[in-house]
Amino acid sequence: MPFSLPKRSPSADRFAGRKQQVSDSYHALLSAGTNIAVIGNRGIGKTSLATQIMNIGGGELSLLDRLSVPHDEKPDFLTMYFACGRTTKTTGDLLEKLLTSHACLADWIYDVPAARKIATGASPKLTAKVLGIGGELSTNATTEEIHQRPALEQSIDVVFSNVANAIAGEGVARDGLLIVVDEFDQIEDRSGFASLLKALATNAPKVRFCIIGVATDIQDLMKEHASADRLFAGSIIALPSMTEAELRQIIDIAEKQIGKYITFEAGAKDRLAQLAQGHPYMVHLIGKYALRSAHQIDRRTISKEDINITLLSLKVAIAKPLHPLLSVKLFCVR
Ligand SMILES: Nc1ncnc2c1ncn2[C@@H]1O[C@H](COP(=O)(O)OP(=O)(O)O)[C@@H](O)[C@H]1O
Ligand SMILES: [Mg+2]
Repeated sequence: MPFSLPKRSPSADRFAGRKQQVSDSYHALLSAGTNIAVIGNRGIGKTSLATQIMNIGGGELSLLDRLSVPHDEKPDFLTMYFACGRTTKTTGDLLEKLLTSHACLADWIYDVPAARKIATGASPKLTAKVLGIGGELSTNATTEEIHQRPALEQSIDVVFSNVANAIAGEGVARDGLLIVVDEFDQIEDRSGFASLLKALATNAPKVRFCIIGVATDIQDLMKEHASADRLFAGSIIALPSMTEAELRQIIDIAEKQIGKYITFEAGAKDRLAQLAQGHPYMVHLIGKYALRSAHQIDRRTISKEDINITLLSLKVAIAKPLHPLLSVKLFCVR
């Protein structure tokens, strides 16, 4: 199989708070035919939640247990993840990348004969990319497949819909395909995506999208007003700032991860949660440096005053351009 998630994901153990959003995501996954959208500000935890949606979609429910979210059904999706980045400029670009990227559909096109037949019969350009001519795989595409020319090159959304439907129908996963598209807001021209979702609902009901992006509401994310609400049937998950209790949980989890070798005093946790102002990455940033300083001077507890000192030293460091601290990624949940 080209892509499978580990049965128990370490990221689930490190994920803090967000009980409501995790519960909403779980129920959205169970609701047949519904697409999911995750919206919120930068750095608020969208990609982290998406990772958990993929875990749950793949049947890994330990996070639901830990958060005491009741569950009686185990979703069973074949999940795939794609982050748009700046080079995905249109809906057509997105679909082409989903079809030709190995972490998404390309390897399945290669493996599932029905999907391969549709792809090769529909688009020589796609055949070349997926099966190896001038593309990424130098493989055993047959001469027939390479030279086959359709009467008319089909539009990318029709090819995508048919190929994805064939893979979903293969029975690899009971609930079909869950395609997670992160950084959806990076796509400049999102026109055509809403109509693709509409077409999928009829022609490929087992192909579902979870789209993620910086946005205030679903219209803002889709940039298409027509019936965006209905396409997501209530499965729009807005991520607000994290509460101080949730931010303190990030610290509790970090303490556990290091076997409580160094701990934060209650006042330090409160101060850190307060300073972060709802932003999980701030807790990671300041927390990591407080831990590092404590370790350097061989101290086993971190006080509120230590947090203040760490903050001050970070402010000084960040004020200097090109300081290595600026590119540091901290104890991440992914
Ligand atoms: N629920 C969470 N528990 C612990 N850490 C989190 C959580 N959500 C986000 N983070 C951390 O906050 C930082 C930003 O999160 P990320 O998911 O990348 O945000 P976004 O995708 O919205 O920009 C990352 O370092 C991530 O590990
Ligand atoms: Mg992100």
